[in-house]
Amino acid sequence: MKNAWIHGFLRAGLLNSVVKGKPYFVENSGLSPILTVEETVRIACRLIKTRFLLVNILDNGKIKYRGRNIIPPFDTPEKLNVLRDKATLMVNYVHAEIPALGDLCFLLGQELDKIVTANGYLGSNGSTALGLHPDDHDVILWQQHGKKLWEVRNPDDTQTVLKITMLPGSLFYIPERFPHVGETPPGEESLHLTFAAISRADAIRQLSALMKKVMAKKKPSQNGV
Ligand SMILES: [Fe+2]
Repeated sequence: MKNAWIHGFLRAGLLNSVVKGKPYFVENSGLSPILTVEETVRIACRLIKTRFLLVNILDNGKIKYRGRNIIPPFDTPEKLNVLRDKATLMVNYVHAEIPALGDLCFLLGQELDKIVTANGYLGSNGSTALGLHPDDHDVILWQQHGKKLWEVRNPDDTQTVLKITMLPGSLFYIPERFPHVGETPPGEESLHLTFAAISRADAIRQLSALMKKVMAKKKPSQNGV
């Protein structure tokens, strides 16, 4: 069964563009946001106490505060005031914390025949979060709150191919390999979701590499201890 959000993505023509492999921007999809700033902060505070590896504060590709070390004791939303200082709070796998978002990822995965996960980015005051970078998988962005400026470049000659402004309800598809950078304008706040769409083969490869790493760490020492 398809939910209202999936219908919105389909109506916006976004999932078709993923097949074509070209950047595609929908200024106003008409979709109501699924996530608020307050809920993002609440989730981040909760995860820092449990699965802290999923939370980072970063800017321009550099991690300013990592997981458990985010301004200890990082246990109240007030402590997130650090975000006012040109930074972006990144909450990985936020779909696992919100059932409706988990359902949407599952349904998007069915439409695209890929594994889909979602990360939340709460940015402030001129922060560029990850800086200019390509991804090795397709991404779909969905603006939830505030404004964010994006530039996408051609993967072959690095020339700018698109500059857009995302507002709540905007959707943006960026194919794998296309370098991109997003900036929260100075003095403003922005919240968006990034859906990562990974092929099943790549997901299996990544999982297998991770398992090898974990098993290598668990290898018994020579004396059998
Ligand atoms: Fe990216």
